[in-house]
Amino acid sequence: VTVFIPRDAAALALGAERVAAAVARAARERGLDIRIVRTGSRGMLWLEPMVEVATDAGRIAYGPVRPDDVGPLFEAGFLAGGAHALRIGPPEAHPYLARQQRLTFARCGVIDPVSVAEYRAQGGYRGLAAALRLGPAATVEAVKASGLRGRGGAGFPTGVKWATVMGAQAPRKYVVCNADEGDSGTFADRMLMEGDPLTLVEGMTIAALAVGAARGYIYCRSEYPHAFAALNEAIAAAEGAGLLGPDVMGSGQAFHLEARLGAGAYICGEETSLLESLEGRRGIVRAKPPIPALKGLFGQPTLVNNVLSFAAIPWILEHGGSAYAAYGMGRSLGTLPIQLAGNVRHGGLIETAFGLTLRAVIEEFGGGTLSGRPVRAAQVGGPLGAYFPEALFDTPMDYEAFAARKGLLGHGGVVVFDDTVDLARQARFAFEFCAAESCGKCTPCRIGAVRGVETLDKVLAGESPRENLALLTDLCEVMTDGSLCAMGGLTPVPVMSALTHFPDDFSGRGAAMP
Ligand code: NAI
Ligand code: SF4
Repeated sequence: VTVFIPRDAAALALGAERVAAAVARAARERGLDIRIVRTGSRGMLWLEPMVEVATDAGRIAYGPVRPDDVGPLFEAGFLAGGAHALRIGPPEAHPYLARQQRLTFARCGVIDPVSVAEYRAQGGYRGLAAALRLGPAATVEAVKASGLRGRGGAGFPTGVKWATVMGAQAPRKYVVCNADEGDSGTFADRMLMEGDPLTLVEGMTIAALAVGAARGYIYCRSEYPHAFAALNEAIAAAEGAGLLGPDVMGSGQAFHLEARLGAGAYICGEETSLLESLEGRRGIVRAKPPIPALKGLFGQPTLVNNVLSFAAIPWILEHGGSAYAAYGMGRSLGTLPIQLAGNVRHGGLIETAFGLTLRAVIEEFGGGTLSGRPVRAAQVGGPLGAYFPEALFDTPMDYEAFAARKGLLGHGGVVVFDDTVDLARQARFAFEFCAAESCGKCTPCRIGAVRGVETLDKVLAGESPRENLALLTDLCEVMTDGSLCAMGGLTPVPVMSALTHFPDDFSGRGAAMP
């Protein structure tokens, strides 16, 4: 009998290691011969650690399993899918998963993340095989046809970026994966790197062969030790199987891939600062132009894409660009891995076609707040994203729909707040965060963030609120227009959204308000 237990960091934090040890011990004590396979997570985080058993009727899941539950589970015959209070049934039939469209995350939580054999048995490396048949130009065309846009948050057309690097003339080129997932409430990059890193490796290999790069780097944030370990295991396994190295899949072309640990700074997720860090320097933002696609790592043309952008590629190459473009709405095509977090009952990963409303995400998937109190706000797109009030919850998950409401979809993180949230304090936090994480290169961000905290403190103390709020609005305009990168440029988004949608939180703080 095969028992699947996650090695995902969220599951480990909830005791998956102890559960795995308890399962092994219980089987030994009963003289039962079982095989334990460590997988990634399916992304239903409130059910972690979720244990699955391979039965004649397919996989049956149980969760959340604590070490103390293991004995009773064996008594209940869980190895044969027996009844127990923790029995979930076939995981794919769970409404949370059944309603999703898992293209990128199809294998996450299903296979041993670092087994090339299991990866291939589940369709792995068909995308690379297709890319080798097509050749570089047609591969880039397929990516263009898919409509894929940068999943790191900016939503730039991926195929256009690939074409730019492919067309650049230079002695060397690089592909770099931005795995410095720093946005609050986001964890999709981590889940994929821990649960199905070979999809990222395959996507980067397809990219490298298409743009003409022989070397690639994955810049993984230092806060992700389990992801880093899984990446290194996956890279070694791919090298051992001839899928990376001097002769990729017998194509005669070389691609060497290395995972590097980040420097522990939010700004190192900004692509030029990431490249500085990768070159061994302090992570300070470079002025653009030149864009990295033309002059990036070590001054050479460099394709920098987010984990989820690269990870979408194998599916696109296997099934064709138009099959991917059949999902989604407007100019937001394909699927978006949404990460639901904060004060919510059912947090987790929801990969679905663009177009689902924010309300469906929070209410239908999330099941409302964990505290049981009414939802008051949701911040979408990380710490630089807007706070949306309930009145905007019918906004579809779509780049343009969010931009039209002065918000951003970003990396797809949704953080839910109940009615105890104080949006003036959240606005202060945005400036505080910017002041702590600013690289210091440009004045509007370096000084503006500090002045923002001071000005909001005056508002919170009820000191000349009308004048200070006018000053704050003016400061936000300067930061938006004058900052060199998105850090300073987008900090006004959470601040102004809080002020616009939740004015009451800024008033009644001492003196009369405008
Ligand atoms: P950007 O709009 O400046 O650039 C997007 C990408 O397109 C870059 O890779 C850029 O080099 C490339 N590009 C631009 N013009 C091009 C051209 N003509 N040809 C080829 N490539 C071109 O945005 P940026 O500063 O890279 O990212 C900002 C976004 O990052 C924000 O919107 C935010 O949502 C997101 N973000 C994500 C975080 C995360 O943890 N995933 C953290 C913080 C911010
Ligand atoms: Fe650095 Fe902030 Fe300027 Fe970006 S906006 S370059 S983080 S100082």
